[in-house]
Amino acid sequence: MSDSATTTRTAELLALERQYCSFGDTVHYLEPPKVFARCQGSYLYDDEGTPYLDLQMWYSAASFGYGNQRLQEALKRQLDRLPQLACQYLHAEKVEVAARLARYCEQRFGVKGRVHFNVGGSQAIEDSLKIVRNSTGKNLMFAFMGGYHGRTLGASAITSSYRYRRRYGHFGDRGQFVFYPYCFRCLYGLRRETCNLYCHDQFAKLFESEYYGVWDPQAGASEYGAFYIEAVQGTGGYVIPPPGYFRRLKETCDQRKILIVDDEIQMGFYRTGKFWAVEHLGITPDIIVFGKALTNGLNPLSGLWAREDLITPELFPPGSTHSTFSSNPLGTAVALETLKMLEEEDYAAQVNEKGAYFLAGLRDLQGRYPRVIGQVDGLGLALRIEVCQEDGITPDRELADRIFAEGLKGDLTAGGRRYGLVLDIGGYYKNVFTLAPSLAITRAEIDVALDLLDQLFRRCRGASSAPAR
Ligand SMILES: Cc1ncc(COP(=O)(O)O)c(C=O)c1O
Repeated sequence: MSDSATTTRTAELLALERQYCSFGDTVHYLEPPKVFARCQGSYLYDDEGTPYLDLQMWYSAASFGYGNQRLQEALKRQLDRLPQLACQYLHAEKVEVAARLARYCEQRFGVKGRVHFNVGGSQAIEDSLKIVRNSTGKNLMFAFMGGYHGRTLGASAITSSYRYRRRYGHFGDRGQFVFYPYCFRCLYGLRRETCNLYCHDQFAKLFESEYYGVWDPQAGASEYGAFYIEAVQGTGGYVIPPPGYFRRLKETCDQRKILIVDDEIQMGFYRTGKFWAVEHLGITPDIIVFGKALTNGLNPLSGLWAREDLITPELFPPGSTHSTFSSNPLGTAVALETLKMLEEEDYAAQVNEKGAYFLAGLRDLQGRYPRVIGQVDGLGLALRIEVCQEDGITPDRELADRIFAEGLKGDLTAGGRRYGLVLDIGGYYKNVFTLAPSLAITRAEIDVALDLLDQLFRRCRGASSAPAR
């Protein structure tokens, strides 16, 4: 398309969107929103064919690369064979995906369990809430400050930020939000090296007296059925917890008969270098919720694994959460191929090696913009850059927004080629670049990413204040 035809077409789309589309089902972080025409590998392409290196990969829904041939072939095969089937009947892929996931968990955690499907992440969270309510008889949950579990009503109730709950009235089952060990911004002003996990002890203290309102000594029970965790906070800014924290938390929850529900919707399937991010924590959760990357952003499929005694058909009978598209065969076919791919290739080694390389590059970048980059950190290919003011700690949301917008202009160059950069901003203060590159990203692409980030920091922060390289 010529430049003027593209501009006209974009203007038409935006006008139609303004008139006919709800804005409630999306957020345009840039106005007007960017229009993309094609995707492949680590790149999105605009109408002019400019590649935008994507460092967020649809919030990890497309972790295995856009247009991943193996996964797309699986989808196409299923499209020609059995694309539609009501969930009341059985098809092989559903059962095989469930068996593979359950066997993986059994082998990894030594616990038998079953797998239950739905379509989106929030829906699977809803299903997990039903399982907790059904097995414990309790409808109150602990969850973390900065946690994100989705935007259906039940998921919003256990998501801390008001932005997801305001406008919708009173949430009687609102989560009890507990400080996540976000050591760079410790709520207690302590340092990780010397705090001895004080934040955990403050949580454990809540059970010492009924006056703290979470423990009834007469009943010998808590009103809280489960604690919802993310091993690495996603929307909260890829916050990586300190070693040992979750083991202590699990002990405290076990003592009080509070289940652990592990939300792996964003971090599961090797984003952090392990199949489940929770495997870094040294604990066994009671329920694991998954979605996104399982189908690489093709036909959606989400679900959960739960310990046998929580989900046995006698306790959680047929139809407890049934949804028309829950184990749709296009989704299960891709999911099965994804699981086979993860078994055949050494993702742990690949992701950890690439993650270490990327993180080393980010540390260099931080060295060039000390203080403005307050912190970089990463686990596997879940990486974070915390953007701060010159004091090295005050969040600089404006600078993060400027860099984000500049990246989408598509006018950067690297190796003589024109590029854009797709970033995502998260964090409690919306000042953290949460980097989730394709797990298939190459070293050469990581070098391009680091070069483009450097250009953006230099451009947006003002060339004069950046130290000479
Ligand atoms: C950790 C986590 N939980 C739940 C969800 C909700 O999933 P979905 O958007 O598919 O409903 C998300 C989505 O970003 C997420 O990152």
